[in-house]
Amino acid sequence: MSRILTGIQSTNIPHLGNILGAVLPAIQLSEDPKNDSFFFIADLHSLTTQKEAQQRINSVNSVAATWLAFDFNTEKNLLYRQSRIPEVCELTWYLNCFTPFPMLANAHSFKDKSDRLSDVNAGLFTYPVLMAADIMLYDAEIVPVGKDQVQHLEIARDIASKFNAHYEQDVFILPQAKTDENVMIVPGIDGQKMSKSYNNFINIFLPEKELKKVVMSIVTDAKTLEESKNPDTSNVFNIYRLLASPDQSVEMRSNFIKGSYGYGHAKTELYELILSKFAKARNRYNELMSDTHIIEKELQIGENKARIIARDKLKLVRSVLGF
Ligand code: ADP
Ligand code: TRP
Repeated sequence: MSRILTGIQSTNIPHLGNILGAVLPAIQLSEDPKNDSFFFIADLHSLTTQKEAQQRINSVNSVAATWLAFDFNTEKNLLYRQSRIPEVCELTWYLNCFTPFPMLANAHSFKDKSDRLSDVNAGLFTYPVLMAADIMLYDAEIVPVGKDQVQHLEIARDIASKFNAHYEQDVFILPQAKTDENVMIVPGIDGQKMSKSYNNFINIFLPEKELKKVVMSIVTDAKTLEESKNPDTSNVFNIYRLLASPDQSVEMRSNFIKGSYGYGHAKTELYELILSKFAKARNRYNELMSDTHIIEKELQIGENKARIIARDKLKLVRSVLGF
């Protein structure tokens, strides 16, 4: 039995890149009967960059609705809001006192954010320690994350081993990052990596008309309808092939090469594929978002289970520390 844990920050509606790159692979891992999975909404982390309360509430609901819309099994596993188990903040303080300052100062993601953001707050600096507490509070062993988070996992392992060594006890499990080489990097509508920071994302939950508008705005070159086109350099084809069956991909590829097949045709096919592929998830997501009581109920079930584990763990940590 392995305990899998991962968090997604609540800063917007999960986009196609988040869904294909993080949500679906994590759900697949959770379906293995040998695993139990703890998936949470990192709403405390989101406060480092997002201060607006109503935006946070909406985005927490939309991240939870996304996990539920893709059938995350909440009977076998846990879905919860990080902030509802405030024990994580107490553990963060303890871990802070075992975290060397230079280790945080040298973290890539802190350097990157402090170059980019105007609000460089202390929360951004201690972000990896809260992340370590997220993981260690629940004795998680495997943490599926994108490559950008691997250094944060190294920091968590470092903190855990320093703590264990100091008290000569295995208080914390050393967690392992799980990055999947096969997980695709989903391109955005401009061909760069899809990201909310680049505003180039596809929100698959949009109403049909708006979704179509976004798909139609995918950037292409100026080739005429008749000309042969290179599928491998086309943003439309590169998104389509991540969703299509092998037969569908082969067909669009040959249409591109053959010519007399315009980007408009390809975009329409992509739009229709998104609608059909995600029909069930779109319906479920919109149902949940129009009545957030069900989301609330699901989250509270997870939070009640998470709280018991967190309290037990903190009891042990406090006694080791002499508090
Ligand atoms: P964003 O870049 O939109 O801010 P995050 O950094 O919050 O997204 O990422 C949340 C999760 O989604 C991470 O696990 C990340 O690896 C994954 N992810 C984000 N963008 C993509 C993408 N374009 N392709 C694949 N996975 C992605
Ligand atoms: N920092 C992660 C991200 O931005 C989100 C996160 C917070 C997380 N706590 C975590 C991921 C614990 C894994 C484990 O993607």
